[in-house]
Amino acid sequence: MSKHILLGISGGIAAYKSCELVRLLKKQGHDVTVAMSRAATEFVSPLTFQALSGNPVLSDTHSGESGGNGMAHINLTRRANVFLIAPASANTLAKIAGGIADNLLTNLAAARKCPLAVAPAMNVEMWFNPANRRNIALLQTDGITVFQPASGEQACGETGVGRMPEAAELADLLPDLWTPKQLQGKKVLITGGATFEAIDPVRGITNISSGQMSVALARACRAAGAEVSLVYGQMQTALPAGLAAAEQALSAQAMYEAVHRRIAGQDVFISVAAVADYKVKNSSVHKLKKANGALPVIELAENPDILASVAALPQPPFCIGFAAESHNIIEHARAKRLRKNIPMLVANDVSVAMGKTTNQITIIDAGGETSLPETGKPEAAAAIVARLAEQLP
Ligand code: CTP
Repeated sequence: MSKHILLGISGGIAAYKSCELVRLLKKQGHDVTVAMSRAATEFVSPLTFQALSGNPVLSDTHSGESGGNGMAHINLTRRANVFLIAPASANTLAKIAGGIADNLLTNLAAARKCPLAVAPAMNVEMWFNPANRRNIALLQTDGITVFQPASGEQACGETGVGRMPEAAELADLLPDLWTPKQLQGKKVLITGGATFEAIDPVRGITNISSGQMSVALARACRAAGAEVSLVYGQMQTALPAGLAAAEQALSAQAMYEAVHRRIAGQDVFISVAAVADYKVKNSSVHKLKKANGALPVIELAENPDILASVAALPQPPFCIGFAAESHNIIEHARAKRLRKNIPMLVANDVSVAMGKTTNQITIIDAGGETSLPETGKPEAAAAIVARLAEQLP
């Protein structure tokens, strides 16, 4: 999954965010080479990017540093899987849209063989300027990915659209550029995290699910071209960028209702949430107080089974369940798949999976059982998506 990313930096105060971006891309395991316009070097020193990327930084069109033949603009993009310009100034965007190549960044863009993405950063008036609108439309027509700028307070003191997306968002969305579009045009609804069943206004019954597997799956489905919605309980991890919808539903009942409100038109339902089997029947609207040593009595009532209810719809989407087991994993998982009447179930050992960054999964479907070695959750999610794509019409 490790890629070679060429990161172009044009002149703009948002260049400071690119330092964090290099760090995050390196953390994802990628090799990052930074190329800067001369204006960019006035905002952040090339030495900063050299230290963060671990690679020499190029800032001159005909630098010999990239391979000895003095053709950095050719050599750099031939090695790269993707070329991202972040921040991309209005000037750089205009030049690329018009095919002008008069510095290292624009030469790299013109001579590239790899996909190009840009993260514009500019003043709100510049962003909405008709010439810039035309340039952005041209870039998109030419197949260049434009990461839409965010709205907010700007360095110039004005407020509006034009802020470069945060580094975390760019690092999250970038892998979409090289991921095969196995789920193009599909709609996927995912549940994730732990449900929370209230005992009183401050206490409740929950579990140790962190939500990481659902987030990894949401990213993997989005990267594969799907339109992804996420209904989530308690999460101990950040939500992915680029979702069609994200709704928090804390209790199993609330999650059941949110899922059924959204399920029409979905092609796939992936039930990753660790849903409480029971809710508190006698939950209190007021905080429970100690009562002279008498122990509170918590009465339980059964929750609806969200996955089974979706699978039982007259025209169900392709349903994938998760079975978190602590013993007899495969045996329990096989029985669960049949009981819930779903085509695919992913079995994992709670001690290996829950709250961890890695997972060891077995995918069980009509075609048999495939056990994967212990991997990171993103790799496990990619394997599930590949298997899912084979089975969709
Ligand atoms: N699930 C659900 N609604 C519930 C319980 C579980 O949608 N009320 C889903 C989970 O999201 C998961 C699958 O069903 O995809 C299996 O969940 P799990 O907790 O492993 O199994 P249970 O159905 O609760 O069965 P058991 O308690 O016997 O293990």
